[in-house]
Amino acid sequence: MTYHKSKSTGNKNRFNSNSKSNKSNQNSRFSNNRTSENRDRNTRDEDNNNNDNRHKFNRDNGKNFNSMPDRLKKNKPTAEENKQFAIKGNYTAKNKKRDLDKKSFDKQDENRPPQRSNNRFNDSTRNFSGNDLLNRYDKFFGNGTSSKLKDAMRQYSNNQFIRVNLSKMNLDEIQVFFKKNRVKFENTFLKNAFKIEKTFFNLSSSIQCLTGQFYFQDLASQVPVNCVDFEKLKSLNRVVKVLDGCASPGSKTTQMLDLLNFHKIEYELTAIELEEKRVNRLVNNIQKMGFDRFKIINCSATDFKTSDKYDVIILDVPCSGNLVGDKNWLNKRNVSDICDKANLQKSIVKNISKYLSDEGELIYSTCSIEPEENEDNVKWIIDNCDLKNVKIDLEVGFDASCLNGVLGLRFLPHKSRTQGFFVSKFVR
Ligand SMILES: C[S@@+](CC[C@H](N)C(=O)[O-])C[C@H]1O[C@@H](n2cnc3c(N)ncnc32)[C@H](O)[C@@H]1O
Repeated sequence: MTYHKSKSTGNKNRFNSNSKSNKSNQNSRFSNNRTSENRDRNTRDEDNNNNDNRHKFNRDNGKNFNSMPDRLKKNKPTAEENKQFAIKGNYTAKNKKRDLDKKSFDKQDENRPPQRSNNRFNDSTRNFSGNDLLNRYDKFFGNGTSSKLKDAMRQYSNNQFIRVNLSKMNLDEIQVFFKKNRVKFENTFLKNAFKIEKTFFNLSSSIQCLTGQFYFQDLASQVPVNCVDFEKLKSLNRVVKVLDGCASPGSKTTQMLDLLNFHKIEYELTAIELEEKRVNRLVNNIQKMGFDRFKIINCSATDFKTSDKYDVIILDVPCSGNLVGDKNWLNKRNVSDICDKANLQKSIVKNISKYLSDEGELIYSTCSIEPEENEDNVKWIIDNCDLKNVKIDLEVGFDASCLNGVLGLRFLPHKSRTQGFFVSKFVR
């Protein structure tokens, strides 16, 4: 597997596997300053698959350097490096990371979405958090929803689902594995996804998981890739181009690669990821799952530029998460954060949607249940990105209808028994 490094307008870095370790060391000086807002949810699927002491590191947000695993310590900038960088760049590694995040949001193209005007709440509600935030759900989804969601938070936050990587294991083999290891499971509305009910050992340490034969991934998170029309892709009878705009840790990238493989479709897949440290994890996951044809670009999806057009674009955008995915969610979030995330999401779609081919499909998803990041954004996308919102042809077995006539699937945890999630689909 090779993947390329070049500097190009708009794209911060393209990686080449040959120069990867060198580059990693140079660039990962920022990796200890985690933005981490989305950390809990964003990497949950992957963390389930890695039983190492990374958890310990995550909990203190990287502040306690001594708690970091040795392999991460080596990326910590030395005092000398920090000093040199401070002189050269006029700011420290910590500031650099903060500014990079800000820049990816601030440096938008001329069509930068409005910062506040289309938020459904006025300024007096922007600081809503905790119970105020919870009570909004009654208003959005009907009386009683907030208490049902609270129950769901208790009942479903530890639910575990796996996705069988069909490129490495077939459905008969997983049944044999379950039987041999006395794993109690439930089928789901997706053929290769199973809910794990009871096990007598930690499945994430099984050789099958460690070698990428199956992957822990919430059922809802498995839906976006299943919204792609693979039959239509196959009928194109040519190499199809796929873009994953916010890729790490790669649950959907690897799922997409698996299903392209399964449907015997020739492809070129490009994955974009902003955070360099998460690029490494993305590469590890893709390789662990057995795929070697992919290109990774380490840049912001708001800045990405290309002359290519893509037949499939997956945008599983950074979002504010949800209360089932993160038990502390209500204490950490407020409406202002949610609106800021919604604006970042708009910027990402605005830029990336330019590269959708005429016959292509764009799948937009979040693990948020906030209407600002979901239905409101869908409406904004229809009005501002020259795209049509279309129905998703997938039977999920519960009422997944969206607000305000938007077409898509809304996973409210008390109905779906999964984490909160939202998926919508667009065509030209
Ligand atoms: C919700 S997670 C994606 C999860 C991934 N699709 C999966 O299924 O494993 C969002 C990802 O987008 C990345 N990200 C955040 N801002 C970005 C930006 N401006 N451009 C590209 N990626 C970004 C985050 O670092 C994070 O890895």
